[in-house]
Amino acid sequence: MSLRLGDIAPDFSAETTQGLLHFHEWLGNSWGLLFSHPADFTPVCTTELGRTALLSDEFKKRNVKVIAISVDPLESHERWVPDINEVNQTVVNFPLIADGDRKIAELYDMIHPNASEKTTVRSVFIIGPDKKIKLTLTYPASTGRNFNEILRVIDSLQLTANYQVATPADWQQGEDVIVTPAVTDDQLEEKFPKGVTFVKPYLRTTPQPDK
Ligand code: BEZ
Repeated sequence: MSLRLGDIAPDFSAETTQGLLHFHEWLGNSWGLLFSHPADFTPVCTTELGRTALLSDEFKKRNVKVIAISVDPLESHERWVPDINEVNQTVVNFPLIADGDRKIAELYDMIHPNASEKTTVRSVFIIGPDKKIKLTLTYPASTGRNFNEILRVIDSLQLTANYQVATPADWQQGEDVIVTPAVTDDQLEEKFPKGVTFVKPYLRTTPQPDK
């Protein structure tokens, strides 16, 4: 059965470009971004891993550890990484899991046989410090992911984790957020000292609390 939001991200041990790693131990108290790519030495994947490396400061700022996976062997990952670095003018500084026996890909339901029997789709799992899955995304092999959107979702998830707020459609950093329905009107002044606007009784907005 596929993994659902709120499930504990399955633990595993894996060979990676940074050595043997035990997933939960490696995550520690950080947030995690686990994302799969269909195959090494392919064009879209080369841009995606490069983009992720270029955004490494952004992930670090948010206390997110990044890890990529495909069903290619370690030797292939190691030969491919210099190409990613060269093409994207960056340094891949996160581990790539070598999942030749597809154990982890199957554990995370990353192989969708009607798309490809042999390789993973482009899956994304964002995992909280509690090891629970906070977001899943599935993209086809032909569509490179939007890593700015992944950062935006992380910002939203972290705001929700720290304050009782949600984010509206197309929300961007610095824009007003939504007070969750669990907060009663009596609690607004204490919890949201910057003020609350009632658009509707059930739609209450407030300036972003951490700005
Ligand atoms: C790519 O990364 O370019 C790719 C991988 C598998 C299928 C199609 C494209």
